[in-house]
Parts: sequence; structure tokens; C-alpha cells
Amino acid sequence: MAPATNIYLIFAALKTIQKKHSMYDQNPTLEGIKTIDEAQQGNVLFKDHWKTSHAPGARHFYIESYGCQMNFSDSEIVASILGEAGFYPTRNIEESDLILINTCSIREKAEETVRKRLKVFELVKKERPGTMVGVLGCMAERLKKKFLEEEKLVDIVVGPDAYRDLPNLIGGAEAGDKMVNVLLSREETYADINPVRLESNGITAFISIMRGCDNMCSFCVVPFTRGRERSRDTFSIVAEAVQLFEQGYREVTLLGQNVDSYKWENPETGELVTFAHLLEQVALIHPDLRVRFSTSHPKDMLDDVLHIMAKYENICKYIHLPVQSGNSRVLELMNRTYDREWYIDRIEAIRRIMPDCAVSSDIIAGFCTETEEEHQDTLSMIEWANYSMSYMFYYSERPGTLAARKYPDDIPEDVKKRRLQEIIRLQNVISLRHNQAEIGKTFKVLIEGDSRKSDQDFCGRNTQNKMVVFPKKAGLKPGEYTHVKIREASSATLLGDIVD
Ligand code: 5AD
Ligand code: SF4
Repeated sequence: MAPATNIYLIFAALKTIQKKHSMYDQNPTLEGIKTIDEAQQGNVLFKDHWKTSHAPGARHFYIESYGCQMNFSDSEIVASILGEAGFYPTRNIEESDLILINTCSIREKAEETVRKRLKVFELVKKERPGTMVGVLGCMAERLKKKFLEEEKLVDIVVGPDAYRDLPNLIGGAEAGDKMVNVLLSREETYADINPVRLESNGITAFISIMRGCDNMCSFCVVPFTRGRERSRDTFSIVAEAVQLFEQGYREVTLLGQNVDSYKWENPETGELVTFAHLLEQVALIHPDLRVRFSTSHPKDMLDDVLHIMAKYENICKYIHLPVQSGNSRVLELMNRTYDREWYIDRIEAIRRIMPDCAVSSDIIAGFCTETEEEHQDTLSMIEWANYSMSYMFYYSERPGTLAARKYPDDIPEDVKKRRLQEIIRLQNVISLRHNQAEIGKTFKVLIEGDSRKSDQDFCGRNTQNKMVVFPKKAGLKPGEYTHVKIREASSATLLGDIVD
């Protein structure tokens, strides 16, 4: 039985949904948007020949997203705001009246990619004068007005907290003005906006639970581009998850830069909701709704969250816990506020409380002043932590960050790249070993759809977030659970057969 507080929460959530329904039922953008493949980083919009029917004379927007999952989630909020303003989505850049690019500043390479795309948009604009181009997200926030000076074709620059102002900014741009709104907010969470699911396999969805970051890791531009950390109203999060479940979704990922510091005070009762509480509320919606979350910060990930994860089968046994470096001196320079020993203690806690939990990581090679021995500490951490996978980067200095101001970017590029290669090579070996250890085991898998390679096979994930590919069986469809016994493994995928 769900505790009384939870019943109250779900009731409040359903009330919010009813309100949302009446507000958004007419939203034209709810139809026909196809999947943006995050791995494609925006390109898929270009390849896809999306057919859509709409009234003659209707205005269209086209949106490409780059960077982290939060950006993709923000694009869904933008799509909703534009839908309310009477814009139809299109995947065909040539028929768009408004081209938007949701940008990332995390590394220099991400910004270069965006600038290349802007060159392509310039050609479209030449072909179709009057087409507006808008830059959204972190690069907009970082470069502000400079964008308009550097990239003459850009009409609108909008930071991550100013998306509600888009209809007004578009109006100004239509009148021929260059429009900018890069105000950051301490309150904005877009809690009341029902995102249009651009990422619509219809089974898995992302829910943004907080915005911004207060951590000030010295290498990171996010606190400057996304502003102060703020948590979204718990009711609206649970409402969104309930609604997704009712629509047939079977997995939600709660998103934040640092989910463990989620904190929301109920203004009516004064009750403080922590991340562990929130996780429990979402898990209690339905046993068939899987819950994931990202990203955890080692300094804030305490045992309360682990115990809640262990208590509910539908909270997936997978934690993305970026270490960044395996060396305590480098971690101190990175301002990560934990050391190697603390990180090891957190992994040990995970293993103690959930022996079957997989852990993944983010790793930066060649941070300022990193020595070869310190790099070896990162390699030994990868080995010891036995990460199922990692996102691996070499350090890219970002203007305005603490590291850019305080430390020399003194590791030569070839050394950074060589260290990164060593990290990647080791992680691949460990991922393969991790996956090979699953051969012979049987996992509950949520079917997401056809496998990439064959429409004879389904793909889906197990609780540890591993992709499993297996031959289809009559009667089973995406959104259902099945049990798959693993017969083969590569470093990225498990292959198996249905056993139930
Ligand atoms: N250089 C390289 N990698 C970075 N990251 C963040 N900032 C930088 C940077 N300046 C990585 C971190 C973070 C992930 C999202 O991106 O590993 O966890
Ligand atoms: Fe950047 Fe650190 Fe915040 Fe992550 S926790 S967004 S790395 S400042």
C-alpha cells in the first residue's frame, strides 16, 4: 500500500494534469514530431523527410539540438511554447520560417559544430530571405550580444531561462529588429509547461527536475550559462510522470546537473522534499514505470538515495557518478569537493547496498598541471570502479571558468589526446569484461522498439542500462517487459533470447 502522503501527491498530480489537458489539448505541435536521435547531435533533422499536413500559410519552426540531455529536454519546452504561439514544427529546413539551434558550450568543439551549422543556415537564409534564425541555450548565454555582432545572420539570441519570451522576441525579429534575452532567473523551472515529446519512441522520456548548477567545478561553464541551481515543484514532476505513464510511456529519467541536491519546500506544509523522497514518489506511481536519473554528484550522493533505490524494483540499478579524475590533487584543482577516498567510499556504499548496480562515469584527461602519475590514478580508478561505460573527454579550456582564470592550460594537446586514448582503450576493455560477465544471466528488459540493424530484432535496456538485442516474439510489442537470457556480448551491446 502506498503511504497516505503519496496518495495525496498523486491526487494533486492528477488535478494538475487535468488542468494541463485543457490548456494543451489544442497544441498543434503535439502531432507528428519524430525522434531526434541524441547521438546524431541534430543532424537527423536534416536527413529525415518528415511529411506533415497543416493549414496553408501556417508558420513553421525547425529546431536542432546539441549537447546534453537537458538541452534536448529544453527543446521540447521550446516546441511547446512555439506551438502555443501558433508555430508548426517542421523537419524540413527549407519550409521553416524560423530556424532554431539549441547550443552547447561545454567544450570548444561543441561550439565549433554550432558555428558550422550556422554557415549552412546562412545559405538557407539567402535562398529564402525573411527566414529568421535564433540561437538558444548555453552559447547564447555565454556570448550574449556578441553573437549578433559575430554572426550577422542571427536574428534572435535566447538564454536557457528566457524561452517564455520567445513569442515576443520573434515578433521583434519579424519587425526587423535584432532581439536578445539572456536574463538568467533564480526561479524559472518551466514547471507548468507540458513539453512536446520530440524524443518520442513513446516508451522512454526525460523529465527535467531542476535547472542550473551551484557547484562551480573549475573546468565547467555550466554555472555561468545555466545560472543558479533551482528545483522544480514536486507536484508538477509527479504530474508529468503520471501523465507519461497514462500515455503509455514506461520509463522516465529525472534530469538535473546534480540531482542529489534536489530540494523543494512545499509552500503549504513547509515539508522539505529531498531527491530520495522525490525518487520514491515517482517510483510509487506504478511498478511498471521504470525510473532513472542523471546526473549524480559524488559529494551529494548519500546512502538515503541508495536505500530508496534498493527498496523499489522499478528504480533502475544504474548510477552515472562522474569521477572526472582519479587523483585527489587534481580533484581539488577541479573544485570537485571530494577526494579519491571519498569517491571510493561512495562506490563501496553502492556495492554494499545494491550489489547488482552498474556505475558509469565522466572522465577528463589532461586537466591543468596533471602529471603522468596522476593520469595513472585515473586509469587505476577506471579499473577499480569497474565502470560499465564512461563519457571521456580531454580538457578544453572554457573562457571565464575558474580554471581558465587560475591555472595554466599547460598539458600539450598531443599529450592530452594520448592520455585520452589510454583512458578510452582501458574503458573499452572494462566495458567488454563487464558485458561478458552477463553471458548466461537472464534480465528483465523493457522493449523500446526495433533494433538498429534489423526489424527482426527488438532492442531494449535492462535495469543496469545495458542495451539488449534479441529476436522478436509474436505477441510482444514495445512498451512491454520481457525476460532475455544473454548469449553474446560486445563492449556496447548484449545479445540474447527471450525466455518467457
Ligand atoms: N573540458 C572537458 N570536459 C568537460 N566537461 C565539462 N567541462 C569540460 C571541459 N571544460 C565534461 C565533464 C562533465 C561532462 C558533462 O563534460 O566530464 O561531467
Ligand atoms: Fe559543471 Fe560540475 Fe555543475 Fe556538472 S556539477 S554542471 S561539471 S559545475
